[in-house]
Amino acid sequence: MKLLLPALLLALGAHAVKREDFKECAQTSFCRRLRPLSSKSEVADFTSPYSLGSPSPAVSPHIGTPAKDAAWTFPLTSTLYPDVGFELRVDVLDGDIAQVRVDEVGSASPWRRYNETAKWALLSPEPAHVRASITTKKGVSSIKYGTGLELRINHSPLRIAMLRGGTEEIVFNDRGLFHMEHFRTKEIAIEEEEVVKAEDGEEVKTEEGAEVTTEEPVEVKSEPEEQKPFEATIDRSWFETEDGDLFEEHWKRWRDSKPKGPEAFSLDLTFPRAKHVFGLPEHASPLSLPDTIGEGSYYSEPYRLWNVDIFEYVADSPMALYGAVPLLHAHSAQGTVGVLNLVASETWVDVAHTKGVQTHWISESGIMDLLLLPGPNPTALFEQYATLTGPAQMPPQFATAYHQCRWNYNTQGEVIEVQDRFEEADMPLDVTWLDIEYADEHRYFDWNKKMFPDPVAMLDQVAKLGRKMVAIVDPHIKRTDSFRVYKDSLDLDILIKKADNNNFDGWCWPGSSVWVDFFNPKSWEWWTRMFSFETWADQTKALFVWNDMNEPSVFDGPEITMPKDNIHAGGWEHRDVHNINGMLFHNQTQHAISVREPTKKRPFVLSRAYFAGSHRYGAIWTGDNLGTWEHLAGESAMFLSNSIAGMSFVGADIGGFFGNPGTEMLVRWYQAGAFMPFMRAHAHIDTKRREPYLYDEPIRSHLRDALRLRYTLLPTWYNAFHDAATKGYPVIWPQYAKFPADESGAAVDDQYYVGDSGLLFKPVVVEGATTTEVYLAANEPYYDYFSARMWPARAKPRNITLDTPLDKFPLLIEGGHIFPSRERVRRASSLMGQDPVTLTVALGKNGAHGQLYLDDGETFAWERGEFVHRELAYADGRLRSTQKVPHDAHNAFARSIAAVGVERVRVLGLNKAPSSVTVAGREVQFEWEKGAPKAKEPRAGILTIKNPGVKVVDDWEIVIA
Ligand code: NOJ
Repeated sequence: MKLLLPALLLALGAHAVKREDFKECAQTSFCRRLRPLSSKSEVADFTSPYSLGSPSPAVSPHIGTPAKDAAWTFPLTSTLYPDVGFELRVDVLDGDIAQVRVDEVGSASPWRRYNETAKWALLSPEPAHVRASITTKKGVSSIKYGTGLELRINHSPLRIAMLRGGTEEIVFNDRGLFHMEHFRTKEIAIEEEEVVKAEDGEEVKTEEGAEVTTEEPVEVKSEPEEQKPFEATIDRSWFETEDGDLFEEHWKRWRDSKPKGPEAFSLDLTFPRAKHVFGLPEHASPLSLPDTIGEGSYYSEPYRLWNVDIFEYVADSPMALYGAVPLLHAHSAQGTVGVLNLVASETWVDVAHTKGVQTHWISESGIMDLLLLPGPNPTALFEQYATLTGPAQMPPQFATAYHQCRWNYNTQGEVIEVQDRFEEADMPLDVTWLDIEYADEHRYFDWNKKMFPDPVAMLDQVAKLGRKMVAIVDPHIKRTDSFRVYKDSLDLDILIKKADNNNFDGWCWPGSSVWVDFFNPKSWEWWTRMFSFETWADQTKALFVWNDMNEPSVFDGPEITMPKDNIHAGGWEHRDVHNINGMLFHNQTQHAISVREPTKKRPFVLSRAYFAGSHRYGAIWTGDNLGTWEHLAGESAMFLSNSIAGMSFVGADIGGFFGNPGTEMLVRWYQAGAFMPFMRAHAHIDTKRREPYLYDEPIRSHLRDALRLRYTLLPTWYNAFHDAATKGYPVIWPQYAKFPADESGAAVDDQYYVGDSGLLFKPVVVEGATTTEVYLAANEPYYDYFSARMWPARAKPRNITLDTPLDKFPLLIEGGHIFPSRERVRRASSLMGQDPVTLTVALGKNGAHGQLYLDDGETFAWERGEFVHRELAYADGRLRSTQKVPHDAHNAFARSIAAVGVERVRVLGLNKAPSSVTVAGREVQFEWEKGAPKAKEPRAGILTIKNPGVKVVDDWEIVIA
């Protein structure tokens, strides 16, 4: 019998996370040591022991190459350890992003801090720099860059502020919580500890900041205030807490050998003007992150970033989940700034809304590598984040449609039956998924031939219907000589090692398993080969991949993951790279899929674990959620928090992974699912079957309606995915990102906008809810997508209440937008490419705008200009379609859809019936449904233009007179 741990627990009736399986801050030595710094810093005479020497143009090769007039280094010392050398380096990067790095330098220790997080997370290991200037006077260096941006660096005590127009927006070490534990031997550590005890309270003086100016000084206009000589009493015990676990740590039955000793670091970032901080996924918490510290704080534990396989997670908690993106947006109506803290080791973040918002970050290892994103608004932040980490991958078209999964479809016959039943029920479906049971003894790649005797025939049969399949390939490899993947990885010596340098083995679905080290470049080509048609013959190009359990999940490991003292390529410890680990697996798999055919194809790989940059490789989902109202309600905030951190190809298991949702809840899950960027139903092996075709009326129709609505709006989703892939915008936008100046809507996280379409969606997440409130921003009218009910523009935002019986949910259109749809829903999205398009024009105060982006949906030809991209604009009675970006309008793709027309234009919000509608002087038919703009429940006038006789690829104008 295989080890089915979750199944077993479920059978035993466990229905909540086993909190005791996961650490709290106080149970991990470095967090226990450094979290209390923030309360110690509240004593009156507390000050930072760190100070900087004079800057020089950057030359230190260990953290990158020099960049003329854009990078400087400063020697950094702590009065606590005057003999230990640190270096602070500032780089000014493209996008006016300031990078601030700190590393220990000149140490006699054989150890180094992990400095490669940027290499994996950023698009380029050598980001482009922009020119800046530095002046240093009286212990303050001022670096000026961009438009009105300045880094004001106080040398002693160390404090760095990013200012815009003279106002501080981000302050590093405002509270003096920066501390970098230096490498030491066990013996020295004991001596030092004794010194801490003996010297407690002794006066220590630092040197005054010297006056330095580098080569090309630029006069600082507003001179900083005169710096007082820094004389302070530093209490060592503020920074160095006695802790027996510096060189070895025990937790439950696990021992962490910690050969490098302590190397944690702490830092504080204050956002003086912010009212909210958003981001830091992945947590099941509100989007506007509540306090974790201070009296009456919402949570008592910091937000934790440590990718874990968490079973039945709590719907509202700062506990770690499967992914980690150390990105924060700090926001108020005055402006938005961001910080990316590039660290891949275990990290805890405290948040307190005091003096703006204060944050305290504590990480176990690595260099400090902070990227300060200047904003000044969320849209600019998305662009800056994309400058650093790249835009998202453009998914193949099918991936944006509906996916049907379950643990498991157990036989080939079952897979075909699913196809037939969707067909009979007239429900669209694009992708059918196979969970771990397809694989013989959970040896991925090897089909269980008893259950799937002819996988290629099955895949072909599915492909004939225009559909695809996905099979799971997890990172654990069954440790058995008969398994070629295991044999190969042994022969190539590419496995993750234990602290003693022997291959690590642990327990997962196949039993005893090993894990390939994707940090080892030797593994890359080999992994690509695993997916080639020669090596894996039992597949076709209709098969795509799901990378699960890649935190990695190790059933018998500490916190269900890998021991921290495991070793990766380059000698790095697992502790240093843990949060990146899953991303590298995801990256290699998607690469393998993209190159398996002679013409490169867009891959689709779903990953559970992720890090900053994972959006370049595919989709993620929110893991093992529960089929409860509480979980359904929590998903929107999780999607939004992921979305602003790049991971906007995100979804949740529709229906909830665990449990058997009743029909009402299932309908609500499907309605929510239709507006998840990644729309997949999935269920645990022990749940009852719940495919949408299994239900009787009226539930069946409600489920079908949700599916069809998704397919109808696929062109709008595709627009949004294209913006994500080219501009770095999220596929779904939270309220604060759309309306940054609206303070009252900033924390709204239970509704969201789809791309730039103006579509505003809110899932109904309350049992029995017959009405639902929606928050509407000011200044534009809103229209009900289904009924054309109208809410005229208002000067102030407001809440409206909508009737939401089971077949209804809020879907509104903000005036001022045009969006495309395809109203003839077919069996699969691949069959809709030649279908005509409908355009909905929702008039705003100044007409309306929109776009229509189309391409072949599967290759990379779009990157070479093979696409159709229309700019749609309505003003003064004229609806125009023009080319959005200059490119060859007669490219091969455009030619392939030359016949595709616009079959309908729906204009909402005209106040009187038109007398004629013409295209190039030719009258076209229209219908007019009078509105009632002044009624108690105002309705918009609806103009429907039928078959205007225009093609999607052409320039045209429709005149409404
Ligand atoms: C854990 C995943 O989160 C879940 O979706 C999957 O069904 C199981 N692993 C089995 O593969």
